[in-house]
Amino acid sequence: MGKLAIAGGKPLRRKPFTSWPVFTQRETLALKEVLTGRNWGGYPFPNEWASSFARKFARYHGAKYGIALANGTVAIEVALKAVGIRPGDEVIVPAYTWEGSVGPILLLNAVPVFVDIDPDTYCLDARLIEQAITPRTRAILPVHLAMRFADMDEILRIAGASGISVIEDCAHAHGGKWRNKGAGASGDVGCFSFQSSKLMTSGEGGAIITSNLEHYERAQSYVNCGRASVTDSFRHRMLGFNYRITEFQAAILVAQLERLPQQAKVRLANMTRFEKRLKGAPGLGFLKRDKRNTRIAAYQYVFKYLPEHFEGISRSAFLGALEVEGIPCDGLFYEPVYRSALFPVDPAEYPALSWRRSEPLDLKGLYRCPVSERAAYEEAVWLPHHIFLGTQRDTDDIADAVLKVCENIGELYGLEHPAIDRKGMSRAERPRVEKRQW
Ligand SMILES: Cc1ncc(COP(=O)(O)O)c(C=O)c1O
Repeated sequence: MGKLAIAGGKPLRRKPFTSWPVFTQRETLALKEVLTGRNWGGYPFPNEWASSFARKFARYHGAKYGIALANGTVAIEVALKAVGIRPGDEVIVPAYTWEGSVGPILLLNAVPVFVDIDPDTYCLDARLIEQAITPRTRAILPVHLAMRFADMDEILRIAGASGISVIEDCAHAHGGKWRNKGAGASGDVGCFSFQSSKLMTSGEGGAIITSNLEHYERAQSYVNCGRASVTDSFRHRMLGFNYRITEFQAAILVAQLERLPQQAKVRLANMTRFEKRLKGAPGLGFLKRDKRNTRIAAYQYVFKYLPEHFEGISRSAFLGALEVEGIPCDGLFYEPVYRSALFPVDPAEYPALSWRRSEPLDLKGLYRCPVSERAAYEEAVWLPHHIFLGTQRDTDDIADAVLKVCENIGELYGLEHPAIDRKGMSRAERPRVEKRQW
């Protein structure tokens, strides 16, 4: 019998961590108010709770305008429409992100251009952007991933010099700041998700923020079936859809936003403690902190497992062992989008991939982004944020479990276990086994 729980030893942690999502009487009362008020939907648009939430959320991030809407994927589509992306336009995106950052580009018959990530942040590598710009490039879409920001100084400089837009995907960055400006407020439009795993949640939901009135008006029309926006100074008329949020969701989000700063403090203190405990442990690597990222929003704690230090024992084996020790964790959280089974792009369905080309663009075969591939398939370890919402003891358990697995890694040689198989599954395969996201 080994020391590791996966090899028959005792698990380091049996107690569950803080449950997620967190709610109190605030949510209960707000929901009851919506229920009994019988004004449940998104129409009239923007409805009462939705506009109150959107105003507060935009202000919290330092933007003038906000719109609460159906989810984060739709938020990206709306942002692309708001800045005027048209069929055939190219949009630069990081290769390592959720497929939902990229799908909306294709949905609008525009063309995603993948750029690799920076190994220090796992966010879009700004040093590689200029070489990806062509006369058709119309926007850069950085994703502030995990607990870092893309280099917004460089991205804004390049976008300014090229006359193109910046759409920030802030699905992981609620409350984060770059040079004291809120996530989503430095670029033209910021997009957020309130899906159930996120730092604030209404089960599903999303928002965009902007300080540009014209972008705001176009976005409002698009979200509200093409109707004139509430301010309607630019008289844009366009085909729109119903991407409105319900009052139930917006009411929950008002309470969730109030709680965010306090939760962020606890989470960051615990994550800092965790990092101090692990720094220096052989075989582990860490993303770099950047002073310009003046407030960290940590959606998940991400560090690096360096398999070459563990004689080739796979990350899946490491993660399977960690999970059986009682620590929720993930590795294949994202793949380079172009390699993902959730990105089965058939050029016949997206005509812009063929325009002005002798052969259609083969998005799945064209790219090799080595840093994204290493992060996705070998190295990245993702720990969900809610496990850092508890006590220092909880945090020490997480650190102790990681160290325990590292110190006894030899027990994993040749070991077969369903937990290891699960950790090797892609997000496309998991619905067969997954009951919750964490
Ligand atoms: C980076 C990123 N972008 C976009 C999205 C899409 O958000 P949603 O799931 O609310 O549609 C997500 C959420 O899963 C995400 O993590």
